[in-house]
Amino acid sequence: LKRDPKFAEITKEHVTFFKDLLGSDSAVIDGLTKDAGEDIEPFNSDWMRKYRGHTKLVVKPGSTEEVSKVLKYCNDNMLAVVPQGGNTGLVGGSVPVFDEIVINLSRMNNIRFFDEVSGVLVADAGVILEVADNYLAEKSHIFPLDLGAKGSCQIGGNVATNAGGLRLLRYGSMHGNILGIEAVLPDGTIVDDLSKLRKNNTGYDIKQLFIGGEGTIGIITAISILCPQRSPAMNVAYFGLESFEKVQQAFREAKNQLSEILSAFELMDGRTQKLLHKANGKKLPLEGDHPFYCLIETSGSNTEHDSAKLEAFLEYVMGEEIVSDGVLAQDQTQMLNLWSCREGIPEVLGHWGGVYKYDLSIPISELYSLVEEMRERLTSAGLVGDSDKHPVVDVVGYGHMGDSNLHLNIPTRRFDKEVEKAIEPFVYEWVAKRNGSISAEHGLGIAKKAFIGYSRSDTMIKLMKQIKNLYDPNGIMNPYKYI
Ligand code: FAD
Ligand code: MLT
Ligand code: ZN
Repeated sequence: LKRDPKFAEITKEHVTFFKDLLGSDSAVIDGLTKDAGEDIEPFNSDWMRKYRGHTKLVVKPGSTEEVSKVLKYCNDNMLAVVPQGGNTGLVGGSVPVFDEIVINLSRMNNIRFFDEVSGVLVADAGVILEVADNYLAEKSHIFPLDLGAKGSCQIGGNVATNAGGLRLLRYGSMHGNILGIEAVLPDGTIVDDLSKLRKNNTGYDIKQLFIGGEGTIGIITAISILCPQRSPAMNVAYFGLESFEKVQQAFREAKNQLSEILSAFELMDGRTQKLLHKANGKKLPLEGDHPFYCLIETSGSNTEHDSAKLEAFLEYVMGEEIVSDGVLAQDQTQMLNLWSCREGIPEVLGHWGGVYKYDLSIPISELYSLVEEMRERLTSAGLVGDSDKHPVVDVVGYGHMGDSNLHLNIPTRRFDKEVEKAIEPFVYEWVAKRNGSISAEHGLGIAKKAFIGYSRSDTMIKLMKQIKNLYDPNGIMNPYKYI
């Protein structure tokens, strides 16, 4: 990959323009006229420490008008940019590749509006997901998305990646919950579509292009989103199971018996749980080894009603030996502890050095066979083992069982070309053969850019390129990434 010479290199004059525009010292990190070293480093490297850019300039606009002026100036001067939220994305989309300017949204963090009757929330893109959810909790509502990075990711970043997360099974995707957006196009045009309406069939639904657009056509500056009522009764259970066949039976029974109160059904294989224990000494909730674990969450309006349902379900799955062992959280602390067995996985897998991550949609009956096949493949190639000689620590699987979304992860002691070659394109061919998706919820960024053809036809890719060219004719928005 080479830097595109059509983009200008930043100069002192550019930096002066941004400083004059944004005023406050903290709104511009200037690595051009001085050594910004450690101040700029976090904006150049991603959460996995796999991708590293070389920006010399980070700007943090404080309002939609400022975003508009920044983008217009960049567009007029052919300066390439990368929109950045909490920088927790997992496909290298949020960091520059070369010297693109980082436009970071963290200063735009106001909640603009909330209506307790309709549940409509309007907020700036830079509001941190957990802050939005805590605000809603005080008003007995819930943000319809939850994920492990909630403490750092921003709602604008969530929308830009169309993040799925832990409760999609219950609350659906951003494409359904987002009612409106405010965004800025590269030429500075403010797209003013912050509708609060649930229903609005008046022409093309253009906001959908920004949802999952990964910052390639514009910058989202605010969102309007429908938030459900928070359920007063919540329960979390954690099970050990003997086989993936039993996991599927348990899922069917959960849908059948818990139906409308089921709010999460997550899968973790036994190996992820062992690694949690190995890496940080975590005491696991169940004794003994089980090849699979599931976490079930219920959310409903009536404690007695929900408990009765859940107890009947537990009795059934234990009695029928669908589940080998299980535990039900008795209080909030135990609930968080059970959730940490699932939410703690992504961080732990990086413990040994690096991790190859694959976020896949696969027909549910075959969801786990890929993990087994990949493990056999890498083991027979002599790549997996306990000692430093072996690059691969293990091949593990976990994910959103309720959405047929597998996270195949290969924690390694180092990123290694031989390992990569053994995994790719095999993994993508395997998924394409089953009409799955090579990116279920993380997006394409730079990591999956070369592989879009395994999930999208030439016609679809051509249409995407036409849209990109229409909105961003100079190509300054997040270049070198998937489009
Ligand atoms: P960033 O990482 O900063 O950016 C992500 C992409 O969006 C980039 O392409 C960037 O250019 C673009 N972007 C950011 N903000 C804007 C904006 N305002 N306008 C336009 N473009 C923008 N994802 C899931 O789907 N489900 C999960 O369960 C899940 N769990 C995770 C757990 C952990 C521990 C981590 C680290 C990540 C997880 N993710 C998950 C990945 C997920 O994509 C991000 O956490 C989140 O959605 C990204 O938000 P962010 O603010 O950090 O965006
Ligand atoms: C998750 O479900 O934990 C996230 O998508 C992050 C990951 O895939 O590791
Ligand atoms: Zn996930």
